[in-house]
Amino acid sequence: MKQKDYEILLLPGDGIGKEISEQAVKLIDWITEYTSTNFKIIRGLIGGASIDKYGEPITEEIIQIAKKVDAVLLGAVGGEKWDSLNFEIRPERGLLKIRKEMDLFANFRPAIVFNSLINSSTLKPEIIDSLDLMILRELTSGIYFGEPRGIVDISNDSKRGFNTLSYTTEEIKRIAIVAFETAKKRSGKLCSVDKANVLESTILWRDVVIQTSKKYPEVELSHMYVDNAAMQLVRNPKQFDVIVTTNMFGDILSDCASMLTGSLGMLPSASLGEMKDNKRLALYEPVHGSAPDIAGKNIANPIAMFLSVGMMMDYSFDLPEMNNLIKNTIDNILKKGFRSRDIADKSDKILGTQEIGDLLISELERVK
Ligand code: IPM
Ligand code: MN
Repeated sequence: MKQKDYEILLLPGDGIGKEISEQAVKLIDWITEYTSTNFKIIRGLIGGASIDKYGEPITEEIIQIAKKVDAVLLGAVGGEKWDSLNFEIRPERGLLKIRKEMDLFANFRPAIVFNSLINSSTLKPEIIDSLDLMILRELTSGIYFGEPRGIVDISNDSKRGFNTLSYTTEEIKRIAIVAFETAKKRSGKLCSVDKANVLESTILWRDVVIQTSKKYPEVELSHMYVDNAAMQLVRNPKQFDVIVTTNMFGDILSDCASMLTGSLGMLPSASLGEMKDNKRLALYEPVHGSAPDIAGKNIANPIAMFLSVGMMMDYSFDLPEMNNLIKNTIDNILKKGFRSRDIADKSDKILGTQEIGDLLISELERVK
């Protein structure tokens, strides 16, 4: 008998989401076998896959299951096939809806450089070597969800498109608390990114972050405007440890940070809700997209998905040692020169998606 039973909702989504999800299943099954924890996987549809079957990018049923299970693991959504659909039912709306409905306001996007891949980055090795930074993006408010929004007619041949950037004290405070707690556990340094020289919503952001900082005297807080932060991330990324920022700034800065590491195919993410009755709703997903051009060819890089499972073990199941084991094993595989195509040099041994999954399992078996 296992000591603990947990349920994971797996939403493979579209494109390479499906094949990397199959590799994640292998990893989760292995963890079930070798720990005192039993992970049961429930499968569901999201994105284009859900549109094709139900006419909407996520169904109410899946949202209800997502709120009940212990964690959600998502592959990727989207593809050309659904690009021409009306905005409201496009695959991306499924992702935004599940984030909002689960109230996953805290989005962790680590940018970690594996030194074995240091030459994949477009930046000089000394700028990024051993880089390990965490971008914490507010995920359920800001301009992504602000009202009013829309496109209206001004005259016969002119329209106006508009969105609202708004933050309340409570929305800022809860992400600020997560940011300070995260910084406290890491190096004790936090940089809050805003545009407080121009936007009122982020003047409030800065005020609330400063208020919150009073409870965390051990954390060294700095502030930066987003334009400067984008520049500093490329100039000298190691000056940062934890960055906390708004929804849209975090979307942009995390793509920028991902390129410091050389491969978008390597980056995991975790999106967490508030702690209620000793439980935190959570969704884990690679930062990369569904890459429809290479889907189904067994060449996609499953590493971001494995690292997302690692984050899940750490954040949702209190198994940080399993997260470390997964990270170290992946690092070892890379050190031996095994690569998926997207991160390979001429001298590397190129493996397919499934083969990388098999290699991960056999290496885990060897070191366990
Ligand atoms: C991301 C993506 C999404 C976002 C899209 C697909 C809606 O770019 O997770 O960063 O903008 O949040
Ligand atoms: Mn993005």
